[in-house]
Amino acid sequence: MQRRARALLAALSVGVIAGCARSDAPPPYVPGLGEIMSAQQMRHAKLWLAGAAGNWELVRYEIDELEEGFDDAVTFHPTHRNTDLPLAELIPQMTHAPIAALRRADEARDPAAFEQAFDALTGACNGCHRATSFGFNVVTRPHGNPFVNQDFAPPPAEG
Ligand code: HEC
Repeated sequence: MQRRARALLAALSVGVIAGCARSDAPPPYVPGLGEIMSAQQMRHAKLWLAGAAGNWELVRYEIDELEEGFDDAVTFHPTHRNTDLPLAELIPQMTHAPIAALRRADEARDPAAFEQAFDALTGACNGCHRATSFGFNVVTRPHGNPFVNQDFAPPPAEG
């Protein structure tokens, strides 16, 4: 009885090991463009709220995140069914200038320049949506703050 149990266990573990070594593992997770864009929408809103609160460190962080999100869009979705222009060209073409302007405004801690650059970025979001037959998806300045668990103001200086 005991020997049969041990044999069964051995057979099972061989099966498990063989199963692990099989190469039909699921493909790596690729975020959809809509998912990446939903994250971009959140960062776009947080960027505005951080700028409005004068939290320039958070502004810089959100600019970095937005840029990474656009890089992901290019990496995972270099083309799109709705446009002949590859997203790998369209995205840098549309977003490089407003992102650079945002960085300059952030470094200068200049609220007026920030607002202007933010609106230019929003224009780029919408320009790209129109270019991909997605013009019905309209991005705006945030009208309120949906993030109830985050303080956008800079924390008081320590020490
Ligand atoms: C390639 C140019 C391009 C740029 C630049 C771009 N988008 Fe998009 N966006 C798209 C496309 C294409 C879709 C539709 C995705 C799909 O096919 O699922 C989309 C979808 C969206 C959606 C809908 C997502 C959903 O599922 O609800 C939102 C929100 C969005 N974008 C926000 C933004 C914001 C905010 C920016 C700027 C910070 C931006 N997008 C910049 C091309 C772009």
